[in-house]
Amino acid sequence: MTLDFAPMEGITGRAYRETHAACFPGVDRYWLPFLTPASNHQFTPRQRRELDPGPLGYTRLVPQVLAKDPADFLWAAAALGELGYGEINLNLGCPSGTVVSKGKGAGMLRDPEALDRFLEAVFAAAPLPVSVKTRIGVEEPGEWERLLPVFARYPIRELTVHPRTRRELYGGGVRFGAFLEAAARLPFPLRYNGNLFSPDAVQRLETACPGLSGAMLGRGLLADPALITRCKGGVRQRQALIDFHEGLAERYLSSMHPDGAVLPKFKELWLYLALLLPEEKAWKRLRKCGKWAEFHPLALELLRNSELLPEPELARLHQQDVQIDI
Ligand SMILES: Cc1cc2nc3c(=O)[nH]c(=O)nc-3n(C[C@H](O)[C@H](O)[C@H](O)COP(=O)(O)O)c2cc1C
Repeated sequence: MTLDFAPMEGITGRAYRETHAACFPGVDRYWLPFLTPASNHQFTPRQRRELDPGPLGYTRLVPQVLAKDPADFLWAAAALGELGYGEINLNLGCPSGTVVSKGKGAGMLRDPEALDRFLEAVFAAAPLPVSVKTRIGVEEPGEWERLLPVFARYPIRELTVHPRTRRELYGGGVRFGAFLEAAARLPFPLRYNGNLFSPDAVQRLETACPGLSGAMLGRGLLADPALITRCKGGVRQRQALIDFHEGLAERYLSSMHPDGAVLPKFKELWLYLALLLPEEKAWKRLRKCGKWAEFHPLALELLRNSELLPEPELARLHQQDVQIDI
């Protein structure tokens, strides 16, 4: 079973991925946060920079596309293939209000017949193997029953299932039964995603679904960047965390304003990293900092000297005043 780093828009961009890979071994593949094809069918300069594989190389990266028009998706597939990518992933999970209201992301699950027509057009002409990442419905889990036969009709390279509806966003438990249903009925490789926050949880998944092609980890890895390293028998080293933190700061500071851009990015990062610390007080102090020059030494001091929990307390995430609307 391979273990992949989930795509996380606004966080796991190129600087994050490359710094992470240099400090924490073991991640099989890193997924790129979704890209939306422009109507002129050209990548923007920013998209080009993100798509440059850098030291990871094309085989350890999975590009993901958000599109509802088959022509846009097929253009992206051809362009990504020309660059050197070996797979394109279709996003059917993004729950953001603006995305869903345009009928994209999880919004494409609302009408299974329209999804069927989209997939038919895509698979008839795709120049690259197509994989899919999906939720189990929009409003309620019963919708999964109508979606499964649609997926089953196509030669999907791999289907990643996040077993929640769009309405459930990322909170509460996952509907593991819906995932098992997919494992029993779909003929192609399946990847599980959702609430894998410890090596134990990954182990339990492997025991429950021995035939799985893999798992994808998101927030658990943001909170403990060594999570996959630990799943593969390694340990979390404090120095690796410090090197990661400092390496990422250096990358961001080389092209972004410290207070205007690096500080908000690091506050988002620490929303998760703080779950490794036993006390919430530390995060409250960090959150109040208005300048990078105040924030950075405090963050570094916490990484150097604070006690670190054996497992991050992800349950705290949803007690905080956080809107994850992606
Ligand atoms: C801040 C944030 C950004 C995300 N961006 C994307 C994205 O670009 N594409 C995507 O398919 N999923 C995205 N997701 C969903 C994650 O890839 C993943 O499915 C979700 O976090 C559940 O997995 P986890 O429980 O391991 O975190 C995002 C989630 C968060 C919290």
